[in-house]
Amino acid sequence: NRTCKIALTVNEVAREAEVEPRLLLVHFLREKLNLTGTHIGCDTSQCGACTVMVNGRAVKSCTMLAVQADGAEVLTVEGLGNMERLHPIQQGFWEKHGLQCGFCTPGVMMAMAGLLQENASPTEAEVRESLEGVICRCTGYQFIVDAVMHAASEMAKSAESAEAA
Ligand code: FES
Ligand code: FES
Repeated sequence: NRTCKIALTVNEVAREAEVEPRLLLVHFLREKLNLTGTHIGCDTSQCGACTVMVNGRAVKSCTMLAVQADGAEVLTVEGLGNMERLHPIQQGFWEKHGLQCGFCTPGVMMAMAGLLQENASPTEAEVRESLEGVICRCTGYQFIVDAVMHAASEMAKSAESAEAA
């Protein structure tokens, strides 16, 4: 089988690999890099459980080939924050009980991190609109919306205090 060499950055770590051209990015992340926080919830590109950031934009990693990520900067949920320093989105989910079973959560958080990158102070309606690409079977979405609104306001506060400093 023909393979292609790719070089990319995943969670700020440089990675090189030989991959089959048909390998999906989600399988590359999960199986080759063992980053299993990125989930697979469907085979119809509907659920969004596989969402990661590629060059700062939220992307469903089951809709992209690993070779298409050659040269890219990829961020997965493992790189979003850590136990010492949660990302505001993670903090928001913690404070506002934004998850139940947790299966959708990594993808939802990456999609919402993507939203906040593009629109730092979304309205509730905008949050709901951008949740259209991700499916949660448990929460009914209200607590997810609350978590994202909380994250946005915390991020605005820390931006203000950074400006004041
Ligand atoms: Fe469902 Fe990618 S696994 S959208
Ligand atoms: Fe269970 Fe979203 S928390 S699917």
